[in-house]
Amino acid sequence: MDANFFSELAAVAKQAGRAGGQRLMELRDSFEVSEKGSFDFVTNADIASQKAVFECISDSYPYHLLMGEEGDTHGPPADDESIVWVVDPLDGTTNYLHQFPFFAVSIAAVQASRPRAACVYDPLHDDFYWAAEGAGAWRNEERLQVSGAERLSDSLLSMSLPPQVASDSPDLLDFLNLVRECQAIRRTGSAAMNLALLAAGKIDGYWARQIKPWDVAAGVLLIQEAGGVVSNPVGDPFDLWQANLTAACSAGVHHELVSHLSR
Ligand code: IPD
Ligand code: CA
Ligand code: CA
Ligand code: CA
Repeated sequence: MDANFFSELAAVAKQAGRAGGQRLMELRDSFEVSEKGSFDFVTNADIASQKAVFECISDSYPYHLLMGEEGDTHGPPADDESIVWVVDPLDGTTNYLHQFPFFAVSIAAVQASRPRAACVYDPLHDDFYWAAEGAGAWRNEERLQVSGAERLSDSLLSMSLPPQVASDSPDLLDFLNLVRECQAIRRTGSAAMNLALLAAGKIDGYWARQIKPWDVAAGVLLIQEAGGVVSNPVGDPFDLWQANLTAACSAGVHHELVSHLSR
């Protein structure tokens, strides 16, 4: 597998993102909602988007594995050769429910536990954030680069919380610690869009302790290809299947961010 193949995968990721995003736009005034758990919602738009994304990928690559948030999917492959597509068909379901205009389709082609091609599609703005290993990160035709911030005190941060937050959650302690060290912390309701914005230089640092592979698989490649740094919350190598993440625009911001996260 080489850079040309990863670029082909990225082209299919974009087509699939478009297909899923179209379903989200068609259903946004007429969706039906149900609750998977406390404050954890799913709509028929999530499901329709996943179906459209999976169909699009399978048309091009019938033998690739498919993993998505909304069920009926494969786990991590046991070997290093297989490609698994890791899909969040609607990242930002709670935003979508409230018609808060911030959500995305997130798609990554993963091989040997590494995202090799990725697309985060923002259907409201018709923006494709996409990347292929070795070919850079892009917003439509514009090459992306992370911001030049070197210190937390120059940084705008973002973070993701799980649907239910325990009163003694370390996330809350981290928030209190970090909000005093940076310029501000934004919670947008879409992990994938947070990471796309970090790749685009609009956010300087991000952390999450309880996320899923489909929330971050695409965004991690965007950040790496845009020159940023990713790790787990203690600064060790990022592991997609553990799905906790610290990401930053620079080694300096990353170092400070990790040092302020509780152990
Ligand atoms: C959620 C969003 C949210 C994050 C949650 C995720 P969903 O994904 O990314 O920003 O805080 O942890 O579960 O359910 O909207 O796809
Ligand atoms: Ca969800
Ligand atoms: Ca998600
Ligand atoms: Ca989702």
